[in-house]
Amino acid sequence: MSLSVHIHRTGGPEVLEFADLPVEAPAAGEVTVRHTAVGLNFIDTYFRAGVYKTPLPSGLGQEAAGVVTAISPDVSGFALGDRVAYATGPLGAYSEIRNVAAARLVRLPPTVSDEAAAALMLKGMTAYYLTHLTHVLRPGETVLVHAAAGGVGSVLVPWAKHLGARVIGTAGSPDKAALATSAGCDEVILYREQDVAAEVRRLTDGHGVDVVYDSVGKDTFEGSLNALKVRGLFVSYGNASGKAAPFEPVLLAEKGSLFFTRPTLGHYTATREDLTTAANALFDVVARGIVTAQVHQRYALRDAARAHLDLESRKTTGASVLIP
Ligand SMILES: NC(=O)c1ccc[n+]([C@@H]2O[C@H](COP(=O)([O-])OP(=O)(O)OC[C@H]3O[C@@H](n4cnc5c(N)ncnc54)[C@H](OP(=O)(O)O)[C@@H]3O)[C@@H](O)[C@H]2O)c1
Repeated sequence: MSLSVHIHRTGGPEVLEFADLPVEAPAAGEVTVRHTAVGLNFIDTYFRAGVYKTPLPSGLGQEAAGVVTAISPDVSGFALGDRVAYATGPLGAYSEIRNVAAARLVRLPPTVSDEAAAALMLKGMTAYYLTHLTHVLRPGETVLVHAAAGGVGSVLVPWAKHLGARVIGTAGSPDKAALATSAGCDEVILYREQDVAAEVRRLTDGHGVDVVYDSVGKDTFEGSLNALKVRGLFVSYGNASGKAAPFEPVLLAEKGSLFFTRPTLGHYTATREDLTTAANALFDVVARGIVTAQVHQRYALRDAARAHLDLESRKTTGASVLIP
């Protein structure tokens, strides 16, 4: 049996339901994984709240690490007892035991603990594609990273620094600003008090930044747009404050022939090769100490609703994991 979280309707954290469900033998192409740590991600709250659509009833969660306990006969490349992790695919990671498509699984190297994998797979592969594929970050470029003390932020900041960028972060409180600085930010803007675009102009001699990594959405859209240099790139990769309002393409011309993209991890890890390239790049920076798992909150799986509440009310920093 596996304690598993399901939703039968969308809404607040109270819609999370817990049930002990039988685990079937793995189907063709699948492996059974006993989870040891489950990653908490803001995207989980979008599916719970109905911001992103999924057929109901549905499981929740996309990221976990654990141990292989059964393997479909047609699967090769995995053995019983392997430590594995995943970060994309059908919802349902909020569970003790689960069948997962082997094509979406990676084996963990000894340098990455289960908890680190649950904290880093989704956020870290996101930081990878944002800095290597959406835009190839070059030494000397200046980037603006919103929510720099958050889950993705605390991976994206040190990785961007390692690539030679100057990193300006934003944070919601002085404590979070201190964390963002320790993660590697050169400067931090308190975006609940300060005018982001004006601060960025002041810090960049009026030029603006090469790239804005904006995961906040509605509340930061305008400031992000006005913080970019001519021909800069707006990477809108999340909507923690709500979806940004629609805009006319001509706005990008008016603001300086800007580029705009709205990427998601699934499209950057769709093939096995893309997935393993991203995972290996992440494992490499972890092994070299460039990126470390910042697990600042741990919750029992049974407390997933409280974890959602904390994440959405901006109480968390770094990453959070659910322990089955
Ligand atoms: N597109 C992709 O491929 C992809 C992949 C992974 C994550 N994401 C996105 O990246 C973002 C970060 O994800 P995460 O899991 O690492 O979460 P997180 O950054 O740990 O949490 C979100 C943070 O956003 C900030 N925020 C600003 N306004 C907010 C508001 N109105 N409500 C709540 N938070 C607000 C808060 O930091 P402050 O208090 O410092 O403002 C909060 O801690 C999310 O938007 C997520 O959807 C996108």
